[in-house]
Amino acid sequence: MRHKGVILWLTGLSGAGKTTIARGIECKLKERDCLVEILDGDEIRSHLSKELGFTKEDRNTNIRRIGFVANLLSRNGIVAIVAAISPYRAIRDEIRMMNENFIEVYVDAPLEVCEVRDIKGLYAKARSGEIKNFTGIADPYEPPINPEVICRTTKESIEECINKVIAELERLEYIPIWNQMNQC
Ligand code: ADX
Repeated sequence: MRHKGVILWLTGLSGAGKTTIARGIECKLKERDCLVEILDGDEIRSHLSKELGFTKEDRNTNIRRIGFVANLLSRNGIVAIVAAISPYRAIRDEIRMMNENFIEVYVDAPLEVCEVRDIKGLYAKARSGEIKNFTGIADPYEPPINPEVICRTTKESIEECINKVIAELERLEYIPIWNQMNQC
């Protein structure tokens, strides 16, 4: 059976858990034989957006590019999972307006927690001034007002967060409700 494609747009601070949740969703959807692709900010920036920096203008260019590719994928029956900080609400909303199959997932973790986690060591560099314009430290992050899903990664386990997104995909009938008899 062919599925309807959709953009799953994960937004949140660096270190909030976007990539981990994206990979978990990908894994669960593949189990169900769904076509999935991840567009991860870090990866996109080493290929498609290699020349871009972190000014508002460059971030918005990056997000528009990601949105463009996600749109191509989703209209061909693929679940396009985006994991990018995407700090500006207006650009996220612009992409939502371009695609009726758009689900926004706010990966919500307080800055203090992301900073303590500091998985890539970038918050320390941002605090010392080695990295300028770091989101949350010297650059804004505008949380979504009405996201379809909120994953609070400090209060919910990664598994719970992944399951919430999967449940939303089921609820909106992008994927069939899963039981052992079902092959999607
Ligand atoms: S976005 O703002 O344009 O959406 P994107 O998700 O592609 O950002 O890239 C963010 C990643 O770039 C971070 O996870 C981090 O590894 C790296 N990075 C380097 N400099 C910055 C910065 N100034 N602000 C945020 N992230 C940065």
